[in-house]
Amino acid sequence: MDATSPILLFDSGVGGLTVLDELRKVLPDAPVIYAADVAGLPYGTKSEAEVAARVAGLLGRMAERYQPRLICIACNTASTIALGMVRDVLETPIVGTVPAIKPAAALTKTGVFGLLGTEATMRQRYVDDLEHAFAVGKRLLRHGANGLVPLAEAKLRGERVRIDDVADSAKGLMLQAHGSDIDTIVLACTHFPLLEQELREAFGQGVEFVHGAQGIARRIAHLTEGQPFARSTGDCAITTGALANFERLAPAFAERGIDRLERF
Ligand code: DGL
Repeated sequence: MDATSPILLFDSGVGGLTVLDELRKVLPDAPVIYAADVAGLPYGTKSEAEVAARVAGLLGRMAERYQPRLICIACNTASTIALGMVRDVLETPIVGTVPAIKPAAALTKTGVFGLLGTEATMRQRYVDDLEHAFAVGKRLLRHGANGLVPLAEAKLRGERVRIDDVADSAKGLMLQAHGSDIDTIVLACTHFPLLEQELREAFGQGVEFVHGAQGIARRIAHLTEGQPFARSTGDCAITTGALANFERLAPAFAERGIDRLERF
């Protein structure tokens, strides 16, 4: 194993940074390429066929060009739609990001918990299966909150995000029957933990938020255990979109040890 071989983190935008933050804690020396399919952002409003085609096509080309030791699909929408398909076609080990329904079901005291993700994620069979496996005897309420994705993107570009806008996109969760009993919310889109502070203000005290980033980072560390790591040059972020727009994220990337921004 080449010590400079990167771990490739893939998302439609900045959501995967929530996974990168946890990955840095467990594997500080791991070289990383952060790949954002900004030309395809947002995934949450797209059809299954569109998301699957983009993700499989891009990851195939990225695997060839960068020879990563592992790919993490740091996006719930892409993972719940295309994880199986991508694993079938690539030899590189793939770690997916799936809604943290299991830990949230164990945490809820009222027995009513919520799932906030993109609309595309909410309708996936993958989510139905997790609910049937881990939420038996509990009530899981779902809400597709596509509107939170551009707000998280804006925040990381240094723009001010209004709590009212966050609340407007997310409040449909609580407005359903039994919604007022929710005490735990799964953030099932990697963009959403970037707005955790705003979501806390929007939902008020008494609601716990759960997401999968820590578990994903631990899984990556486990799968690469014993491998040599050398971060000789600075890490790199690549975009399928315009570089000028991506460069507005330079401070957010720099904070996370990524100094080179390039177009894929
Ligand atoms: N970050 C992605 C997720 O985890 C979705 C954002 C988008 O809609 O592109 O689902």
